[in-house]
Amino acid sequence: MRTVLQSFVLLAVCAGCGGGATRTETADATTDPTTDAATPYGCPAGTTATLGNLVPLPVAVTVDGGLFCLPATAAIEVDPPTPELLAVGQYLAAHLRPATGFALEVRGATTPQPGNIRLTTVTEPGLGEEGYGLTVSAGGVTVSAAQPAGLMRGIQTLRQLLPAAIEAATPQPGPWPLATGSVTDQPRFAWRGVMLDVARHFFSVADVKHFIDEVAYYKINRFHVHLTDDQGWRLAITSWPQLSAIGGSTEVGGATGKFFYSQAEFADIVAYAAARYITVVPEMDMPGHSNAALASYAELNCDHTATALYTGTNVGFSSLCIDASPTAQFVSDALGEVAALTPGMWLHIGGDEAKSTSAADYAAFMQTLQPLVAASGKMLIGWAEIAHTPLKAGAIVQHWNPYDTTSVQLAVQQHAKVILSPANRAYLDMKYDGDTPLGLVWAGLVDEQQAYAWDPATELSGVGESDILGVEAALWTETIATIADIEVMAFPRLAGLAEVGWSPAGSNDWASYRLRIAAHGPRLTTKGVGFYRSTRIPWQ
Ligand code: ACM
Repeated sequence: MRTVLQSFVLLAVCAGCGGGATRTETADATTDPTTDAATPYGCPAGTTATLGNLVPLPVAVTVDGGLFCLPATAAIEVDPPTPELLAVGQYLAAHLRPATGFALEVRGATTPQPGNIRLTTVTEPGLGEEGYGLTVSAGGVTVSAAQPAGLMRGIQTLRQLLPAAIEAATPQPGPWPLATGSVTDQPRFAWRGVMLDVARHFFSVADVKHFIDEVAYYKINRFHVHLTDDQGWRLAITSWPQLSAIGGSTEVGGATGKFFYSQAEFADIVAYAAARYITVVPEMDMPGHSNAALASYAELNCDHTATALYTGTNVGFSSLCIDASPTAQFVSDALGEVAALTPGMWLHIGGDEAKSTSAADYAAFMQTLQPLVAASGKMLIGWAEIAHTPLKAGAIVQHWNPYDTTSVQLAVQQHAKVILSPANRAYLDMKYDGDTPLGLVWAGLVDEQQAYAWDPATELSGVGESDILGVEAALWTETIATIADIEVMAFPRLAGLAEVGWSPAGSNDWASYRLRIAAHGPRLTTKGVGFYRSTRIPWQ
């Protein structure tokens, strides 16, 4: 097949990505109408495709100017045909079948056949746990990775390279062109998370799965779920059943219902995320932010009187009774049960804004808590305030408050790794601008550029690249009550934060990102994501 390279613009040489890797931002190819009919996987005359417009920006892209159009006969070949890789193949098929209407059989194949999409961990590109190589030739597509997680990330790239119509839920006319060339990619940071507060407002299993699917598209790999707060306790704990029966009966605004996950429902969420190579990080916030527990069990209060359920939005008024005899048992039981439900390595214990716990009690609580988390087999994560107490080796500290940089610096001095969620960049509950109906403003307005245009390694003095595990966006839900609310606050800002976490140091470029995310407008629309249509982005 003869193709004409129509526009090939090498916009940037990646300064930070070693080995002189290059990136192309725009690379379009168009078939030559005089010859394409003779080729087996040629595209109709006038078809164009690009290897640009990826979010997050990959490490390296090379373009060779041809086109491959996915034929109706295409299969998805996995090599080796393990149950795990066959499941990854089925994930891809499930995303390509509705719009193409193609059968897209998923099968093991050790000998590649032309015209197919091949997913393989055999020809290992050596790009770590989540890295991948993606090659499009005139004869087909190959995604290769050392690990299945890398294939999952490469599949998101493949989806973004196909026309936006690929995200439609019903058959579309096609064609399904891909520009020939290759993408080589791996993340800058191991931790690229998003937190959802299901305590202020509760979200159904279906809503949570929907959100997990949406964040997978941007290569997010941690789903931190804020399970408990003053307003709600959202996970059934078998040994303390009133936590959910009472503490999970209401939410901000005062609605009542079964506002908690059974253990089977929570396990379903964990498995759904795991199938997308996203690890669930459960948080039980203590010793403050604990009114739902204090309302459920009188004995967790120093005066042995249960508090009233709370449906407002104040913070800092509640504390577990640190000296009360059942408190350590309660913590051990609750953390033990959630640890057993969560295969990931981490337990988040909150620790923020414990304004009703004395400093001495707070320090004593942390001394009790750290061995309990270790006994559950997990690594402890806490909000930055925990760094004011002695941390055991391996503790991870999550920075959040832009007005408090002392805590994260104390964490680094204790050799803790840090996750950066500065509220003035990464809090998805901040308003975008003065016209945003939902959200809060205590950390300022966070528009798309504010969320995107920063480098974690230079954001905070005393906190450098080697201290940073990664970045995490956080969506608190005082004002957020529906999946539509989640979408409008998360998108597009979460895509920008995902790029901050994934793309090479030195590649952060607002002018480039602004155009690439603009090209995602039709993708988000076709996927049915109700994103914030800010006038700052020239949406396509
Ligand atoms: C927080 O926003 N209180 C972690």
